[in-house]
Amino acid sequence: MARHLITSALPYINGIKHLGNLVGSQLPADLYARYLRGRGHEVMFICATDEHGTPAELAAAKTGEPVADYCARMHGEQSALARGFGLSFDHYGRSSSDRNRVLTQHFAGKLADRGYIREVSEKQVYSIDDGRFLPDRYIEGTCPNCGYDKARGDQCENCTKQLDPTDLIDPRSAISGSTNLEVRETRHLYLRQSALKDDIATWIDSKTDWPILTTSIAKKWLNDGDGLQDRGITRDLNWGVPVKRGDQDWPGMEGKVFYVWFDAPIEYIAATAEWADANDKAEADWRGWWRTDEGADDVTYTQFMGKDNVPFHTLSFPVTLIGSGEPWKMVDYIKSFNYLTYDGGQFSTSQGRGVFMDHALEILPADYWRWWLLSHAPESGDSEFTWENFQQSVNKDLADVLGNFVSRITKFCRSKFGEAVPEGGAFGPDEDRLIDALTTRVRAYETSMNRMEVRRSASELRAIWVLGNEYLQAAAPWATFKADPEKAAMQVRLGLNLIRLYAVLSAPFIPFASKAMLEAMQTDNADWPGDLQKALAALPAGHAFTVPEVLFAKITDDQREEWAERFKGERQ
Ligand code: 2FM
Ligand code: ZN
Repeated sequence: MARHLITSALPYINGIKHLGNLVGSQLPADLYARYLRGRGHEVMFICATDEHGTPAELAAAKTGEPVADYCARMHGEQSALARGFGLSFDHYGRSSSDRNRVLTQHFAGKLADRGYIREVSEKQVYSIDDGRFLPDRYIEGTCPNCGYDKARGDQCENCTKQLDPTDLIDPRSAISGSTNLEVRETRHLYLRQSALKDDIATWIDSKTDWPILTTSIAKKWLNDGDGLQDRGITRDLNWGVPVKRGDQDWPGMEGKVFYVWFDAPIEYIAATAEWADANDKAEADWRGWWRTDEGADDVTYTQFMGKDNVPFHTLSFPVTLIGSGEPWKMVDYIKSFNYLTYDGGQFSTSQGRGVFMDHALEILPADYWRWWLLSHAPESGDSEFTWENFQQSVNKDLADVLGNFVSRITKFCRSKFGEAVPEGGAFGPDEDRLIDALTTRVRAYETSMNRMEVRRSASELRAIWVLGNEYLQAAAPWATFKADPEKAAMQVRLGLNLIRLYAVLSAPFIPFASKAMLEAMQTDNADWPGDLQKALAALPAGHAFTVPEVLFAKITDDQREEWAERFKGERQ
């Protein structure tokens, strides 16, 4: 049994996330966590809300709430939605926690002691009309790299380049839109990333098995211009982790906070400590996941994120960990994703274009979304959500293939044999062939799940469902029953066992339906199948079951049209 640490990129606290956000990190991370648990591994699956910095301040300013209250409320809402989608975090933390404050200040202190932080007197954009400095998202303008005209002061969303506010062409205040800006002098701390460039390059070069999307982005920024640049890690803001050197004040840094992207990845560690606090665990219990000198040397650590997050996870955060000189666990594998687009355009949080997590659950159960999103995950390129495609996938894969199989077998058995697994008959060549085909497919499914190939895993799973359907169609126990009831009993017994097998294999994708299937089969045997012959004999003759409610209802054309209209823009 291996130990797996899994983290999903931390969603910003500012508002409900859309399905594109969900499929870019939290959902595939959950798929992998559920799969590994299902196979008997020990898993620590961590996520948290990313609560500091300009996104939180700007959003709170809009609602008129104090920023701390806004974050507490939104954390509650995001946790409830995460539960609704079946995201099985071991802990869903908050980057504004005390644990994160202490750890962030600790890392800054260590980095400073080892000479990886320098103080810089620099010029920053100051808005005369707003009466304040404009760090990061408080400023917008044109990206000097790609020309995108809505680039933010910290990063261009379009080309992923990390920026400084002074890099932007035609800058304007994101608060007031004012262009009445001037550059003023202020002091800040810089992380000396350039000093660790060779260490980072060697580390990235050693990751030969990483997805190309991850390494190509990392290498692009590692070799960009003069190479890895030093980055400012403090800001003139009120909301955030106060700048301290360990627990000591930092002269000259009074009133400043750390940059959100400095403290956010540290929250992966801090949230694991929060997990320990919430579950009455010892310090050693969380440290055993993160400190290679305290047990984490046997941990496999996987991160999930959208492509815009890759530079921070391949460059800045590793610099923080390596630069501390302490034996922190480094990531072993970074699974990154492209973007999901919505009906020919972008999802837009500001315009409410596309489906957001709250509305998604209002109209359909989580498994419908999980299945579509995962089976269309933007792995090799961007992918597009359309209502037609969504309707087609749900109706075909979930309703016609899986749901129909479960319904036919259970209903037929109830009508001819009653609500217990029937006895009699023995497997013949057709069943042997099915078991061979299933064995091949299940092993292929495992291989693609082990490799985190999300779409391929979905198509292997679909193929496994199809095999059952084809078998049932050909075996036709409703026809066999008249001439050979023993044979029909054997076919139905196999079918009922297939339902249990499908519940186990499908749980990472559609955990709610999987639970309903196991409940209908009245079993808590969710053992991952080794030998398929054995797995298909898990429910013996005489074992009672019930006919489940309809697992998946079809999406009608009227529904599809209504939803397409409702979510086309301007959030309700
Ligand atoms: O891009 C985002 O949504 C960020 N909030 C991700 C942070 S991931 C981590 F490092 F905390
Ligand atoms: Zn750009």
